[in-house]
Amino acid sequence: MCRMTLMIILGIETSCDETAVSIVEAKGDLKSLSFRVLGSAMHSQVKMHAEYGGVVPNLAKREHQKNLPLVLEQAIKEAGVDLSKINIITVTIGPGLEPALWVGINFAEELGKKLGVPVIPANHMEGHIASVLLNKTGVVSFPVLALLISGGHTELIFLKSWVEKERIGETQDDAVGEAFDKVARMLGLPYPGGPEISRLAEQAREQDIHLEKKFPRPMIHSEDFNFSFSGLKTAVLYYLRDKKEINKMAVAREFEDAVVKTLITKARKAIDEYSPKTLIIGGGVIANKALRENFLKLKENYPDLEILIPEKFLTTDNATMIAASGYIEYLRNQKSDRELKAQGNLDIS
Ligand code: KG4
Ligand code: ZN
Repeated sequence: MCRMTLMIILGIETSCDETAVSIVEAKGDLKSLSFRVLGSAMHSQVKMHAEYGGVVPNLAKREHQKNLPLVLEQAIKEAGVDLSKINIITVTIGPGLEPALWVGINFAEELGKKLGVPVIPANHMEGHIASVLLNKTGVVSFPVLALLISGGHTELIFLKSWVEKERIGETQDDAVGEAFDKVARMLGLPYPGGPEISRLAEQAREQDIHLEKKFPRPMIHSEDFNFSFSGLKTAVLYYLRDKKEINKMAVAREFEDAVVKTLITKARKAIDEYSPKTLIIGGGVIANKALRENFLKLKENYPDLEILIPEKFLTTDNATMIAASGYIEYLRNQKSDRELKAQGNLDIS
């Protein structure tokens, strides 16, 4: 099959609590890629897991099994293409919850056999990087520095190309999204807490409300590119424990300011060291308004740096980014050692 022709990719994502299918038209090579979404559908389990304060793996598995066929049907209907037109299926194999990942993998394998098309294993975090390609047609200038901020990961990845990638920093303890979710829980806010904290912090800014105390900006002076968020979380815990009257808005704002300052400082340190041409920020936490605004402002300090942030609906888990990342994996055209097997801790490769 000629690579420059249009390919229709079916992406499947079941790594956590979203069951998602997307049908994407892809074209180009590793130097110039473009994508067009034909149809996508998603079923979120957030409400169900919220009762437990977090994702319950076996419930997630059961829900994915129940919903995946329906979500596929919806996506196909929206795309208006027949299943027989699909050229490649791609499915998340990790990182994520293994029981949940297996549902997608088994489903993809069966469908691949039925349609006689290859099934390409996709890496969820590489999907978050690829999420910026959906609103940008054409060429990404390498090297790229990617900051990934999600519920399970906080990492800095340096990419010389779509094939050569290296992790240069990561969190030593909690992921930044996890810190948002835990602090939200301490404040009595529902799961997932990121959007709730974000909402309260925005209200505090509108009303010019500050906390009388500053929380730490962890590891901003360390020489490496690593992160740590558990100390910040504990600082919030102690503050809430010792204080009689709590202003949730002020706490949310101060916590968010600490996160913004920490992520921006570390990203700048890595930009200064690695001189990337492009900065990509991916993962659910970049849905956050204050983070989006502050990262875009970096342009003032680095006028030549291209800053790519996914559209808001592509920041949290979705199958469109998996289709894009699976297509890149397909184009790599090297004997990948990736197996079609759930890998909870799968690394960038
Ligand atoms: O990428 P994602 O959808 O799933 C994982 O791969 O983990 O990220 C989910 C994380 C959750 O921790 C959620 O609280 C956080 O993203 N999040 C936010 C916002 N929206 C989602 N965090 C801060 N502000 C937001 N607006
Ligand atoms: Zn994710």
